Amino acid sequence: MATIRLGDKAPNFTADSSIGEINLYDYLGDSWGILFSHPADFTPVCTTELGTAAQFKGEFDKRNVKMIALSVDGAASHKEWIKDINEVQHTNVEFPIIADEDRKVSDLYDMIHPKADNTLTVRSVFIIAPDRTVKLMLTYPASTGRNFYELLRVIDSLQLTANHKVATPANWKNGEDVVVSPAISTEDAKTIFTKGVKEVKPYLRMTPDPAS
Ligand code: BEZ
Repeated sequence: MATIRLGDKAPNFTADSSIGEINLYDYLGDSWGILFSHPADFTPVCTTELGTAAQFKGEFDKRNVKMIALSVDGAASHKEWIKDINEVQHTNVEFPIIADEDRKVSDLYDMIHPKADNTLTVRSVFIIAPDRTVKLMLTYPASTGRNFYELLRVIDSLQLTANHKVATPANWKNGEDVVVSPAISTEDAKTIFTKGVKEVKPYLRMTPDPAS
C-alpha cells in the first residue's frame, strides 16, 4: 500500500461490485469521480449515507461526477442491502458498490485504519478529477455520517478553481464571492475579473464568482 497524496494519480483497479465487474478508469471515462467507503452492509449510518447519495444523484450528474461506493462485504450482500436502502430512503441506488471482500481496493486506498477497526473500512472519500488525479481526501470515523451538501460544495469549488484563478473562502457556496489567487497582482486581477475586484487587504482580494 502506497500513501496517496493530493495530486497523485488515483490508483486504478478492477473489482466486483453490485452492478458486476467494474474498472475504475473505464467506469469514470471523462467524468469526475467520488469514491467513498463504508464500514459494512446493513448498518444504520451507512444506510442513510447511501440513500442520501442516491437522492443526490441529480446534483452529482449536473456536475459530471460519477459515484462509487465500497465496503468489504460481497456483491450478493450489497444487492440485498440496496433493496433495504431503496425501501427506507425512498430512492433508487444505481451507482456501484464495490464488493471488496479481499480488501484489495481498501488496501490500495488505505481505507482500513487498524486503530479504528482491524478489518472494516473507515468512511473515506476520494474526489478524482477527469485527469485521474486525486483532488480531495476526507476520513470520517464509522460513527459519523458524511455531509453530502459539503461534498457537493467541495466539488463546486474544485471545478471553479480548475477553470479560474481563484480560491474559495470559508463556508463559500456556489455563486458567492471568491478570493483572487495570491499569485495574481491586484492590477492584473482588475483586468482579468471584469465584474470587479475589492482589495480588503493587499493579500485578500475578493471578486464575484466568475462562473455565475
Ligand atoms: C453504521 O453505518 O451505522 C456504523 C457502521 C459501523 C460502526 C458504527 C456505525
